[in-house]
Amino acid sequence: MNFRLDGKVAIVTGGASGIGAETARVFVENGAFVVIADVNDELGHQVASFIGVDKVSYRHCDVRDEKQVEKTVTFAVNKYGSLDIMFSNAGVAGALSSILDLDLKDFDNTLAVHLHGAAACIKHAARVMVETKTRGSIICTASVAAMVSSNAASHGYTTAKHGLVGLVRSACGELGAHGIRVNSISPYVVATPLACRELGMEASELESAGAVGANLKGIVLKPIHVAQTALFLASHQSAYISGHNLVVDGGFLARR
Ligand SMILES: NC(=O)c1ccc[n+]([C@@H]2O[C@H](COP(=O)([O-])OP(=O)(O)OC[C@H]3O[C@@H](n4cnc5c(N)ncnc54)[C@H](O)[C@@H]3O)[C@@H](O)[C@H]2O)c1
Repeated sequence: MNFRLDGKVAIVTGGASGIGAETARVFVENGAFVVIADVNDELGHQVASFIGVDKVSYRHCDVRDEKQVEKTVTFAVNKYGSLDIMFSNAGVAGALSSILDLDLKDFDNTLAVHLHGAAACIKHAARVMVETKTRGSIICTASVAAMVSSNAASHGYTTAKHGLVGLVRSACGELGAHGIRVNSISPYVVATPLACRELGMEASELESAGAVGANLKGIVLKPIHVAQTALFLASHQSAYISGHNLVVDGGFLARR
Protein backbone atom coordinates (compact mmCIF):
# COMPACT_ATOMS: atom_id res chain seq x y z
CA MET A 1 0.00 0.00 0.00
CA ASN A 2 1.45 3.34 -1.06
CA PHE A 3 -0.07 6.36 0.63
CA ARG A 4 2.64 8.74 -0.61
CA LEU A 5 1.70 12.15 -1.97
CA ASP A 6 5.06 12.86 -3.63
CA GLY A 7 5.00 16.20 -5.44
CA LYS A 8 1.28 16.76 -4.78
CA VAL A 9 0.10 20.18 -3.65
CA ALA A 10 -2.45 20.57 -0.86
CA ILE A 11 -4.28 23.39 0.86
CA VAL A 12 -5.24 22.74 4.48
CA THR A 13 -7.73 25.23 5.91
CA GLY A 14 -7.68 25.51 9.68
CA GLY A 15 -4.13 24.20 9.42
CA ALA A 16 -2.74 26.35 12.24
CA SER A 17 -4.07 24.07 14.97
CA GLY A 18 -5.42 20.67 15.97
CA ILE A 19 -6.49 18.28 13.21
CA GLY A 20 -5.42 20.65 10.40
CA ALA A 21 -1.90 21.18 11.78
CA GLU A 22 -1.41 17.43 12.20
CA THR A 23 -2.74 16.76 8.69
CA ALA A 24 -0.39 19.36 7.20
CA ARG A 25 2.50 17.58 8.96
CA VAL A 26 1.40 14.12 7.76
CA PHE A 27 0.90 15.34 4.17
CA VAL A 28 4.41 16.82 4.12
CA GLU A 29 5.88 13.69 5.73
CA ASN A 30 4.39 11.83 2.76
CA GLY A 31 5.94 14.08 0.12
CA ALA A 32 3.35 16.85 -0.41
CA PHE A 33 3.73 20.63 -0.52
CA VAL A 34 1.19 22.30 1.74
CA VAL A 35 -0.38 25.73 2.05
CA ILE A 36 -1.77 26.26 5.53
CA ALA A 37 -4.73 28.64 5.32
CA ASP A 38 -6.00 30.04 8.59
CA VAL A 39 -6.92 33.22 10.45
CA ASN A 40 -4.51 32.57 13.33
CA ASP A 41 -1.41 34.07 11.71
CA GLU A 42 0.94 33.66 14.66
CA LEU A 43 0.16 29.98 15.12
CA GLY A 44 0.03 29.36 11.37
CA HIS A 45 3.55 30.72 10.88
CA GLN A 46 4.79 28.71 13.88
CA VAL A 47 3.32 25.47 12.50
CA ALA A 48 4.78 26.16 9.03
CA SER A 49 8.24 26.81 10.55
CA PHE A 50 8.00 23.71 12.69
CA ILE A 51 7.10 21.46 9.73
CA GLY A 52 9.63 23.13 7.40
CA VAL A 53 9.20 26.24 5.27
CA ASP A 54 10.76 24.50 2.25
CA LYS A 55 7.59 22.39 2.03
CA VAL A 56 4.94 24.49 3.80
CA SER A 57 3.68 28.05 3.37
CA TYR A 58 1.32 29.93 5.61
CA ARG A 59 -1.36 32.11 4.06
CA HIS A 60 -3.88 34.25 5.94
CA CYS A 61 -7.31 33.14 4.72
CA ASP A 62 -10.68 33.67 6.33
CA VAL A 63 -12.77 30.97 4.65
CA ARG A 64 -15.93 33.07 5.16
CA ASP A 65 -14.58 35.43 2.49
CA GLU A 66 -14.72 33.86 -0.97
CA LYS A 67 -12.12 36.29 -2.38
CA GLN A 68 -9.58 35.17 0.24
CA VAL A 69 -10.23 31.53 -0.62
CA GLU A 70 -9.82 32.24 -4.34
CA LYS A 71 -6.55 34.12 -3.70
CA THR A 72 -5.27 31.24 -1.55
CA VAL A 73 -5.92 28.77 -4.37
CA THR A 74 -4.12 31.07 -6.82
CA PHE A 75 -1.23 31.42 -4.34
CA ALA A 76 -0.87 27.62 -4.08
CA VAL A 77 -0.88 27.16 -7.85
CA ASN A 78 1.59 30.00 -8.44
CA LYS A 79 3.93 28.84 -5.69
CA TYR A 80 3.90 25.07 -6.25
CA GLY A 81 2.56 24.66 -9.79
CA SER A 82 -0.76 22.85 -9.21
CA LEU A 83 -3.49 22.02 -6.74
CA ASP A 84 -4.19 18.33 -6.12
CA ILE A 85 -5.76 18.26 -2.65
CA MET A 86 -8.11 20.60 -0.81
CA PHE A 87 -8.62 19.76 2.86
CA SER A 88 -11.46 22.04 3.93
CA ASN A 89 -11.18 21.72 7.67
CA ALA A 90 -11.43 25.17 9.32
CA GLY A 91 -13.97 25.24 12.09
CA VAL A 92 -15.49 27.03 15.04
CA ALA A 93 -17.69 25.50 17.70
CA GLY A 94 -20.41 28.12 17.96
CA ALA A 95 -22.01 29.07 21.26
CA LEU A 96 -23.62 26.30 23.28
CA SER A 97 -27.09 27.44 24.24
CA SER A 98 -30.70 26.43 24.43
CA ILE A 99 -32.58 26.85 21.14
CA LEU A 100 -34.82 29.18 23.16
CA ASP A 101 -31.90 31.56 23.59
CA LEU A 102 -30.32 30.98 20.18
CA ASP A 103 -28.03 33.83 19.12
CA LEU A 104 -28.72 34.00 15.40
CA LYS A 105 -25.60 36.05 14.73
CA ASP A 106 -23.48 33.27 16.21
CA PHE A 107 -25.58 30.67 14.34
CA ASP A 108 -24.94 32.50 11.02
CA ASN A 109 -21.23 32.79 11.77
CA THR A 110 -20.95 29.06 12.49
CA LEU A 111 -22.69 28.27 9.20
CA ALA A 112 -20.49 30.80 7.41
CA VAL A 113 -17.27 29.10 8.54
CA HIS A 114 -18.36 25.49 8.03
CA LEU A 115 -20.76 25.67 5.08
CA HIS A 116 -20.12 28.89 3.16
CA GLY A 117 -16.39 28.33 3.76
CA ALA A 118 -16.45 24.75 2.52
CA ALA A 119 -18.53 25.73 -0.53
CA ALA A 120 -15.96 28.41 -1.40
CA CYS A 121 -13.10 25.93 -0.92
CA ILE A 122 -14.77 23.27 -3.08
CA LYS A 123 -15.70 25.81 -5.77
CA HIS A 124 -12.27 27.37 -6.18
CA ALA A 125 -10.31 24.15 -5.77
CA ALA A 126 -12.55 22.43 -8.33
CA ARG A 127 -12.31 25.34 -10.79
CA VAL A 128 -8.54 25.06 -10.94
CA MET A 129 -8.62 21.24 -10.98
CA VAL A 130 -11.10 21.24 -13.89
CA GLU A 131 -9.08 23.86 -15.77
CA THR A 132 -5.81 21.97 -15.33
CA LYS A 133 -7.46 18.53 -15.76
CA THR A 134 -6.19 17.47 -12.34
CA ARG A 135 -7.90 14.39 -10.90
CA GLY A 136 -7.88 15.97 -7.45
CA SER A 137 -9.17 15.00 -4.04
CA ILE A 138 -11.35 17.36 -2.00
CA ILE A 139 -11.88 16.41 1.64
CA CYS A 140 -14.06 18.21 4.18
CA THR A 141 -13.99 17.71 7.92
CA ALA A 142 -17.53 17.01 9.07
CA SER A 143 -18.21 15.38 12.47
CA VAL A 144 -20.33 12.79 14.22
CA ALA A 145 -22.50 15.92 14.72
CA ALA A 146 -23.33 15.55 11.01
CA MET A 147 -25.41 12.49 11.90
CA VAL A 148 -26.64 12.99 15.47
CA SER A 149 -27.31 15.92 17.77
CA SER A 150 -25.88 16.23 21.25
CA ASN A 151 -25.90 18.77 24.03
CA ALA A 152 -22.10 18.98 23.63
CA ALA A 153 -22.49 20.63 20.19
CA SER A 154 -24.09 23.98 19.40
CA HIS A 155 -27.20 24.12 17.21
CA GLY A 156 -25.22 26.00 14.57
CA TYR A 157 -22.47 23.38 14.59
CA THR A 158 -24.86 20.41 14.26
CA THR A 159 -26.78 22.19 11.50
CA ALA A 160 -23.63 23.13 9.61
CA LYS A 161 -22.13 19.65 9.79
CA HIS A 162 -25.38 18.02 8.59
CA GLY A 163 -25.35 20.48 5.67
CA LEU A 164 -21.71 19.82 4.92
CA VAL A 165 -22.35 16.13 4.24
CA GLY A 166 -25.08 17.20 1.80
CA LEU A 167 -22.72 19.65 0.13
CA VAL A 168 -20.08 16.92 -0.28
CA ARG A 169 -22.60 14.58 -1.91
CA SER A 170 -23.91 17.32 -4.16
CA ALA A 171 -20.43 18.42 -5.28
CA CYS A 172 -19.19 14.85 -5.83
CA GLY A 173 -22.12 14.22 -8.16
CA GLU A 174 -21.03 16.96 -10.50
CA LEU A 175 -17.26 16.72 -10.14
CA GLY A 176 -17.08 12.98 -10.83
CA ALA A 177 -17.32 13.82 -14.54
CA HIS A 178 -13.94 15.54 -14.17
CA GLY A 179 -12.32 12.72 -12.20
CA ILE A 180 -12.39 14.83 -9.02
CA ARG A 181 -13.30 13.03 -5.78
CA VAL A 182 -15.12 14.75 -2.91
CA ASN A 183 -15.40 13.11 0.51
CA SER A 184 -15.83 14.01 4.15
CA ILE A 185 -14.39 12.71 7.40
CA SER A 186 -16.52 12.60 10.54
CA PRO A 187 -14.49 12.31 13.73
CA TYR A 188 -15.73 11.63 17.24
CA VAL A 189 -14.36 13.87 20.04
CA VAL A 190 -10.73 15.02 19.68
CA ALA A 191 -9.22 17.15 22.45
CA THR A 192 -8.24 20.13 20.28
CA PRO A 193 -8.53 23.81 21.28
CA LEU A 194 -11.95 23.99 19.54
CA ALA A 195 -13.46 21.17 21.60
CA CYS A 196 -11.70 22.08 24.87
CA ARG A 197 -12.83 25.71 24.67
CA GLU A 198 -16.41 24.72 23.82
CA LEU A 199 -16.74 22.36 26.76
CA GLY A 200 -14.54 24.34 29.18
CA MET A 201 -12.19 21.40 29.80
CA GLU A 202 -8.46 20.76 29.74
CA ALA A 203 -7.33 18.32 27.05
CA SER A 204 -6.77 15.46 29.52
CA GLU A 205 -10.18 16.06 31.11
CA LEU A 206 -11.91 16.04 27.71
CA GLU A 207 -10.08 12.87 26.65
CA SER A 208 -11.28 11.14 29.83
CA ALA A 209 -14.85 12.33 29.27
CA GLY A 210 -14.66 11.26 25.62
CA ALA A 211 -13.38 7.82 26.63
CA VAL A 212 -16.42 7.30 28.87
CA GLY A 213 -18.82 7.96 25.96
CA ALA A 214 -16.70 6.13 23.38
CA ASN A 215 -17.61 2.73 21.99
CA LEU A 216 -14.04 1.61 21.25
CA LYS A 217 -12.14 1.23 24.49
CA GLY A 218 -8.41 1.25 25.20
CA ILE A 219 -7.57 3.97 22.67
CA VAL A 220 -8.09 7.73 22.62
CA LEU A 221 -8.93 9.50 19.36
CA LYS A 222 -6.08 11.90 18.49
CA PRO A 223 -5.51 14.34 15.60
CA ILE A 224 -3.10 11.82 14.02
CA HIS A 225 -5.97 9.32 13.50
CA VAL A 226 -7.94 11.92 11.56
CA ALA A 227 -4.82 13.03 9.68
CA GLN A 228 -4.13 9.44 8.59
CA THR A 229 -7.71 9.20 7.32
CA ALA A 230 -7.22 12.41 5.35
CA LEU A 231 -3.99 10.94 3.95
CA PHE A 232 -5.90 7.85 2.79
CA LEU A 233 -8.59 9.97 1.10
CA ALA A 234 -5.95 12.22 -0.49
CA SER A 235 -3.89 9.29 -1.78
CA HIS A 236 -4.32 6.96 -4.72
CA GLN A 237 -5.32 4.19 -2.28
CA SER A 238 -8.83 5.69 -2.22
CA ALA A 239 -8.93 6.14 -6.02
CA TYR A 240 -12.57 4.98 -6.41
CA ILE A 241 -13.99 6.52 -3.23
CA SER A 242 -16.12 9.61 -3.72
CA GLY A 243 -19.22 11.05 -2.05
CA HIS A 244 -18.34 9.10 1.08
CA ASN A 245 -18.58 10.28 4.67
CA LEU A 246 -15.87 8.32 6.46
CA VAL A 247 -16.63 8.16 10.18
CA VAL A 248 -13.63 8.02 12.51
CA ASP A 249 -15.60 7.30 15.64
CA GLY A 250 -14.62 3.82 16.84
CA GLY A 251 -18.16 2.58 16.28
CA PHE A 252 -19.83 5.36 18.30
CA LEU A 253 -22.58 5.95 15.74
CA ALA A 254 -23.09 2.28 14.94
CA ARG A 255 -23.66 1.53 18.60
CA ARG A 256 -26.18 4.34 19.02
N1 LIG B 1 -12.16 18.43 17.95
C1 LIG B 1 -13.21 17.67 17.76
O1 LIG B 1 -13.71 17.00 18.68
C2 LIG B 1 -13.82 17.57 16.38
C3 LIG B 1 -14.70 16.51 16.11
C4 LIG B 1 -15.27 16.43 14.86
C5 LIG B 1 -14.96 17.39 13.90
N2 LIG B 1 -14.11 18.41 14.19
C6 LIG B 1 -13.83 19.39 13.13
O2 LIG B 1 -12.44 19.38 12.88
C7 LIG B 1 -12.10 20.61 12.24
C8 LIG B 1 -10.81 21.13 12.86
O3 LIG B 1 -11.07 21.52 14.20
P1 LIG B 1 -10.09 21.17 15.40
O4 LIG B 1 -10.84 20.31 16.32
O5 LIG B 1 -8.77 20.75 14.88
O6 LIG B 1 -10.02 22.60 16.13
P2 LIG B 1 -8.87 23.70 16.26
O7 LIG B 1 -9.48 24.82 17.02
O8 LIG B 1 -7.64 23.08 16.77
O9 LIG B 1 -8.63 24.14 14.73
C9 LIG B 1 -9.55 24.91 14.01
C10 LIG B 1 -8.76 25.88 13.14
O10 LIG B 1 -9.69 26.59 12.28
C11 LIG B 1 -9.26 27.93 12.22
N3 LIG B 1 -10.36 28.81 11.81
C12 LIG B 1 -11.44 29.18 12.53
N4 LIG B 1 -12.22 30.02 11.81
C13 LIG B 1 -11.60 30.16 10.60
C14 LIG B 1 -11.91 30.90 9.44
N5 LIG B 1 -13.00 31.69 9.36
N6 LIG B 1 -11.07 30.81 8.37
C15 LIG B 1 -9.95 30.05 8.43
N7 LIG B 1 -9.60 29.34 9.52
C16 LIG B 1 -10.43 29.41 10.60
C17 LIG B 1 -8.76 28.24 13.63
O11 LIG B 1 -7.95 29.40 13.67
C18 LIG B 1 -8.03 26.96 13.96
O12 LIG B 1 -6.67 27.03 13.58
C19 LIG B 1 -13.31 21.53 12.40
O13 LIG B 1 -14.02 21.58 11.19
C20 LIG B 1 -14.12 20.83 13.47
O14 LIG B 1 -15.48 21.14 13.37
C21 LIG B 1 -13.52 18.52 15.41
